[in-house]
Amino acid sequence: MSYEIATIPGDGIGPEVVDEALPLLHEAASRHGVEVEFTEYDWGTERYMETGEMMPDDALEQIVDADSILLGAVGHPDVPDHITLHGLLLPIRKGFNQQVCERPSILFEGVESPLRGYEGGDIDFVVYRENTEGEYSDAGGRVHRGFDHEVAIQSAVHTREGTETIVRAAFEAATEREGQLTSITKSNAQAFSMTFWDDVVEDVATDYPDVEVESLLIDAGSMDLVRRPEEFDVLVASNLFGDILTDIGAIVSGSMGLAPSGNVNVDGEYPSMFEPVHGSAPDIVGQGVANPMATVLSAAMLFEHLGEEPVSDALWSAVRAVLADDDAPATPDLGGSASTGEVVAAIEERL
Ligand code: NAI
Ligand code: MG
Repeated sequence: MSYEIATIPGDGIGPEVVDEALPLLHEAASRHGVEVEFTEYDWGTERYMETGEMMPDDALEQIVDADSILLGAVGHPDVPDHITLHGLLLPIRKGFNQQVCERPSILFEGVESPLRGYEGGDIDFVVYRENTEGEYSDAGGRVHRGFDHEVAIQSAVHTREGTETIVRAAFEAATEREGQLTSITKSNAQAFSMTFWDDVVEDVATDYPDVEVESLLIDAGSMDLVRRPEEFDVLVASNLFGDILTDIGAIVSGSMGLAPSGNVNVDGEYPSMFEPVHGSAPDIVGQGVANPMATVLSAAMLFEHLGEEPVSDALWSAVRAVLADDDAPATPDLGGSASTGEVVAAIEERL
């Protein structure tokens, strides 16, 4: 098989991790008879500074025929985040109807959790985050800017179709995993949107009698992801809540540099997009020490999505093998002093 992957390295450490990872991904694919062409797009904040736009007007048309999308990171300290996010990332997620955001959190063997007493294998859960609506619906406004009577309104939009789609995806995942689903809610305080969320979870649950369902308020759930992360299997959450929970998930499992994610278009009408959970990490940009593993694992999710499991498995295994080996190079986020390129080389050796 042969695939075309639209590749958007983006900002900050995005280009560092993507550029280092691409030859490795080529190699992993070709070993299994899979051909990939990574078509690179220079969209991002540097383009914005030159042209006033993060990406061209016809950007989505340019990549709509790609088999999938690989993205590095977006965000620049000199430009407000709402401009960069709304200029590049969110239009793709929304335009291509990537309703299901899938974010696994795994404490790999050989990786130290900041939580006391946890070892490799103890933490292994996945968050299903609603990805195109909810609190990030971009509905609202500000009036009387700067005056004492200024008003800001930010509305959350939850549709039955969107909510059902994410909840069903999470139930499907639970069926294939440990059969345990945690729904993240806030229906005590948000008595419209989150009671609706609870109702949809209850409705969909009737189709999955074998899945054990627990409901947790977002505040309690945030605490429990730190207090008892080993007990979670699949979590399902709205856009904002899922965003927050997956940063907790990334850090309790060792590093932001290890957390991959997929933005999935469920019916396959548009390409799905895979990207590390982390941002552009301005604090370490240019040093060549960003951990490339989150990007490599995101690509592994991409290949799985394309149906190329052997390529995906090879990448997962190679990353696991590097992490489990005390003598293998590690980037500073994991306590080592290796460069991005050295870690990629170590992964390649273990393919
Ligand atoms: P961040 O994820 O970029 O960085 C948080 C911390 O994790 C930093 O200390 C960073 O050095 C570390 N880190 C992240 N990725 C790493 C890697 N691969 N290897 C080693 N260490 C890593 O989040 P932050 O600092 O809040 O945001 C920076 C910029 O990124 C902002 O402009 C923000 O809007 C943007 N952002 C973009 C995202 C995306 O493109 N999906 C997601 C999150 C933030
Ligand atoms: Mg986030």
